[in-house]
Amino acid sequence: ATAPLDSSKLEICRNQKKSQPRPNNELVFGRTFTDHMLTVEWTAEKGWAAPQIKPYGPLSIDPSCCVLHYAFELFEGLKAYRTDEGKITLFRPDKNMERMNKSAARICLPTFETDELIKLIGKLIEEDKHLVPQGKGYSLYIRPTMIGTSNGLGVGHPDKAMIFVITSPVGPYYKTGFKAVRLLATDFATRAWPGGVGDKKLGANYAPCILPQLQAAEKGYQQNLWVFGPEKYITEVGTMNVFFAFKDSKTGKKELVTAPLDGTILEGVTRDSILALTREKLDPKEWEVNERYYSINEVAERAKKGELIEAFGAGTAAVVSPIKAIGWQGKDIEVPLLPGEQSGALTKDIASWIADIQYGREKHGNWSRV
Ligand code: COI
Repeated sequence: ATAPLDSSKLEICRNQKKSQPRPNNELVFGRTFTDHMLTVEWTAEKGWAAPQIKPYGPLSIDPSCCVLHYAFELFEGLKAYRTDEGKITLFRPDKNMERMNKSAARICLPTFETDELIKLIGKLIEEDKHLVPQGKGYSLYIRPTMIGTSNGLGVGHPDKAMIFVITSPVGPYYKTGFKAVRLLATDFATRAWPGGVGDKKLGANYAPCILPQLQAAEKGYQQNLWVFGPEKYITEVGTMNVFFAFKDSKTGKKELVTAPLDGTILEGVTRDSILALTREKLDPKEWEVNERYYSINEVAERAKKGELIEAFGAGTAAVVSPIKAIGWQGKDIEVPLLPGEQSGALTKDIASWIADIQYGREKHGNWSRV
């Protein structure tokens, strides 16, 4: 049998350099990294080697390495928060590790013992804990990554791989905090399709989405709203899941809706958390929370009737990102915002429910792990 991933075999080589925290207002998403990284190598022959924490720095790989040619790469994104009490907690790391293994299995990279990687990430944070920022909207963004490292141009399943984890102190995704964005409903490019890998967090899903984003930007929209197929179903926004809220003009009943997990939708941890929280907290006499297919045509029609009340993107990086307009068929569908504010009422509530849990003001099951 080959060796499992084992956090007790960790070897630490400390960095001589100890960075001082930067002021919060200088933290740009994913631009600066802490002093240490974690690496773990794997071979088909021996399994997982001893994990190593070492000074942050370049990796050395052969130019024929399979990650560089055939995109054997997957990643995760999660955050560590400094709570109001000064503890450092990870938000639902088990969900990210579970998804990481699903991504790995799909591209023939090795799976691993999820709790061992969580423990190792804990040790990594411990080394640089003075660099975890404090304050509303600030956190340490953690980027676990796995690559195939077999050399040679034959296309086959990698017999060597590596996990590495780097961490970046970050502020709010948008400098101005919560800021509503304009989207272009995009049917001229497709992010994911049935039988594809749109539900896996593979690097190869991201590069092809930049050109459509630039095309949206040329027309004055920040992100793509990905719509799929002849029915023009709404799937995701940019790199996030997306939610819409409607209010039936006849019955007054409200509905929060997001696309179902049919294999084309990333299984977002923020998405899952929002579904759980709204199902717990919203009054079922007033609200229905649904995972169902819905199209840009439904959104356009309901907006015309005054039934579109809110829309927002949901992801780890931005957490909740309100939407104010959607370009579709040459016109803008306007999404109402609270007077003088950047979101609707429900969007604002959801953002604060999640922040309360992330910053340790509220407890929710085992969502926060010290
Ligand atoms: C997220 O919204 O959390 C993401 O996946 C964005 C990341 C690719 C930067």
